Amino acid sequence: MAEDLSIVQGTKEEKYQSVIPQIKALIEGEPDLVANLANIVAALMEQFGWLWVGFYLVKENQLVLAPFQGPVACTRIKKGKGVCGTSWEKAKTIIVPDVEKFPGHIACSSKSRSEIVVPIIRDNKVMGVLDVDSEELAAFDESDKKFLEEIVDLIIFE
Ligand code: SME
Repeated sequence: MAEDLSIVQGTKEEKYQSVIPQIKALIEGEPDLVANLANIVAALMEQFGWLWVGFYLVKENQLVLAPFQGPVACTRIKKGKGVCGTSWEKAKTIIVPDVEKFPGHIACSSKSRSEIVVPIIRDNKVMGVLDVDSEELAAFDESDKKFLEEIVDLIIFE
């Protein structure tokens, strides 16, 4: 069984540098995708305490809700819709400092003020996205992009 996650105080970078090796250890040798996605969101939520963190996976040309932590969320998102669907369509990470200023933003929780969505790309194909929401404005920057992209790169798709 996994040990307790070690949580650190400090800068955002220090938090990522602490949690990333622990995420690696949690998913190493485990082939089950859902189990690994579930532990990744749990580890990130425990360390960062964001409003919402979770995955959507591409299934039959839609994004379908996958393991997450936080308030209940919309189940399906079409390509090009919202921040998640736009990240999928463009195959690029999208940082939204103020969700009210993002045209077409899908408000799953009225508490969400800023958001980052990172696509999971394998063989030039978007397999899903990692979505993180914060109750604070402008919570995410290039540093989150770098570390969250590093985290999604760890995921093995069978
Ligand atoms: N805000 C997202 C929808 C997902 S929820 O935030 C969990 C979007 O605009 O795509």
